Amino acid sequence: MSAPMLTVDGLRASYGAAQILYDIGLDVGRGEVVALMGRNGAGKTTTMKAVMGLMAQSAGRVVFDGHDISRRQPYEIARLGLGFVPEDRRIFSDLTVLENLDIGRQAPRKFSDGIDAPVWTEQKLLALFPNLGEMPNRPGGRMSGGEQQMLTVARTLMGNPLLILLDEPSEGVAPVIVEMMANTILELKKAGVSILLSEQNVHFAELVSDRAYVLEKGQIRWNGTMTELAGNVDIQRAYLTV
Ligand SMILES: Nc1ncnc2c1ncn2[C@@H]1O[C@H](COP(=O)(O)OP(=O)(O)O)[C@@H](O)[C@H]1O
Ligand SMILES: [Mg+2]
Repeated sequence: MSAPMLTVDGLRASYGAAQILYDIGLDVGRGEVVALMGRNGAGKTTTMKAVMGLMAQSAGRVVFDGHDISRRQPYEIARLGLGFVPEDRRIFSDLTVLENLDIGRQAPRKFSDGIDAPVWTEQKLLALFPNLGEMPNRPGGRMSGGEQQMLTVARTLMGNPLLILLDEPSEGVAPVIVEMMANTILELKKAGVSILLSEQNVHFAELVSDRAYVLEKGQIRWNGTMTELAGNVDIQRAYLTV
């Protein structure tokens, strides 16, 4: 693995008195796609929220591109180039595709070692997501769930992130969109964007991921290469399939 883009160590998080995450440790290398897997309620979304500084109560250490972001505010973390695509799509339904993209715009940035990060423009994104390219002026509210999902990802890319947290990109969208999403993730990897994606489905994760971490009840139970996980029926039965 190359220099880590994201390192999480001893991460804990609670909602009120209920502790949800117990000493989560994981890392994502530059240009890597890593799957955070687990059943509903395992703690995938909470892990992403804690990394983004969105959990009121958390402890542990999170280092992103050399910056300790453990005690930073969500807006500061986003400004460092950590993108987050939440599971509930948050597009503006009255605004068009192009207007939604414009809202995500941030300046081009560099990795901490001075290398230029990939730069995205509306034009590049409409080419990357051809179905959005066909409807640049359509209001967000008149798009399908899958199209809105793509728009959320595209808007996050307008911020020229170094790494994105993608929360369940294949959840609740049509198979054709799932396939497009997988292709998009592979294109992003090629462009040099690192990705931590949460996922319940081994088949989708296998299409795009290099490595995987398996969560259950807020703890990492297994980690290894995606190929190993795809071949390990015992781990899948224990922690993934219903
Ligand atoms: N806002 C909340 N308040 C209290 N408990 C929550 C809240 N959101 C999630 N939880 C609990 O935290 C646990 C992990 O949830 P979550 O991180 O959403 O899991 P996943 O994304 O893997 O489905 C679950 O037991 C869930 O019930
Ligand atoms: Mg979730």
